[in-house]
Amino acid sequence: MKRRDLINWVGLGWLASSLPVVFAACSSQTTSPKSSASGDWQTVGTSEELDKTGQLLAKNSPVGAVLVIGTSKTKNLKAVNPTCTHAGCTVTWQAATKKFSCPCHGSEFAVDGKVQKGPATKPLTTYAAKIEGNSVLVK
Ligand code: FES
Repeated sequence: MKRRDLINWVGLGWLASSLPVVFAACSSQTTSPKSSASGDWQTVGTSEELDKTGQLLAKNSPVGAVLVIGTSKTKNLKAVNPTCTHAGCTVTWQAATKKFSCPCHGSEFAVDGKVQKGPATKPLTTYAAKIEGNSVLVK
């Protein structure tokens, strides 16, 4: 056997024996994180935090960034992903005008996430929201 053939065989053997390890490592990284709440509802904060200002921003919740509007006495809480659909800035809630506004380029969104003023053209992602005990939950 020539030296080149031997190197090719050893290299092929190493590759074949390494593939299962590579696949195992890749598949373990794609496993989804465990839920911290029952069902699809995820805890994003407490009702005390929400009641302080009538809004609760959870930037790193289990479902991603969430802005919840309302208070513990409000029966119809609203929750959106506050990431502006134009270029990704974080929108803020304007209670006086009941709109989400973007500080970057002036887009405005209705309480249901629909675009009211561009340049954004796509609505904000909305979530269902509720209070259970002391926790604010969204899904
Ligand atoms: S990023 Fe919000 S309007 Fe441009």
